[in-house]
Amino acid sequence: MFGTRRVRKTAATLVATAAAAATALLAAPTASAAAPQPVVGGTTTTTTAYPFMMQITDASQNQFCGGTLVAPRKVVTAAHCMVGETTGSVRVVGGRTYLNGTNGTVGKVSKIWINPDYSDATNGDDVAVLTLSTSMPYTPASYVSSSQTGVYAAGTTARILGWGTTSENGGSSNQLRTATVPIVADSSCRSSYGSDFVQSDMVCAGYTSGGVDTCQGDSGGPLLIGGALAGITSWGEGCAEAGYPGVYTRLATFSDLVTAQVNS
Ligand code: ARG
Repeated sequence: MFGTRRVRKTAATLVATAAAAATALLAAPTASAAAPQPVVGGTTTTTTAYPFMMQITDASQNQFCGGTLVAPRKVVTAAHCMVGETTGSVRVVGGRTYLNGTNGTVGKVSKIWINPDYSDATNGDDVAVLTLSTSMPYTPASYVSSSQTGVYAAGTTARILGWGTTSENGGSSNQLRTATVPIVADSSCRSSYGSDFVQSDMVCAGYTSGGVDTCQGDSGGPLLIGGALAGITSWGEGCAEAGYPGVYTRLATFSDLVTAQVNS
């Protein structure tokens, strides 16, 4: 889903906001690698290494978002990925490292649950759960519980995954990619994004200097903390820009809603 690029602010607003962000983020870590890592900045990986990593595709198996298998027939993704979709218009593909592959398991979708409070990614509530018609033969990921709010401590290392574009205006990656990014303090993310950052529903991750981030096509995919699903790729200002970290759905807030769907 490429429909949620954030509308660019006016130049004056952007400069003022960027200055505030730079000040607020001074204490945050900087990216050490000069070369691009995954996603944007990062390394290639496989669905063997991350068996719960699903491609969300159209009926022709063209990938447009990511998803995370959390039970044999349940996949967590972003609500904004499912807008306008129907059970017949989407597929979930597991065990397929390459976009141009034909291997793995193609799952049909029998139900799409979109958080009923969802309106726009910048308003929060960006979570959806897909129910598959048949089980995926891959090991699901665990996900954070509603009480695990401590996992989002600033500076905590998180892992991102996806087939999205490897630069802000670049092309998608044929091979699955991954990178690690530090969780950003809520106060810093507020400095970057103002009222678009809804602290209860979102968590930010990235380096002050940019360079490593999720990007278009990574949406719906996982942000892992300690190996558990803790966030969903949601939105950001451009990709990997200094002072503008990626914004992820704060899954602990929605954990009980997800569990209700997993058990339904
Ligand atoms: N909304 C994008 C998508 O649909 C994800 C954007 C993530 N952006 C970022 N700077 N982290 O794929």
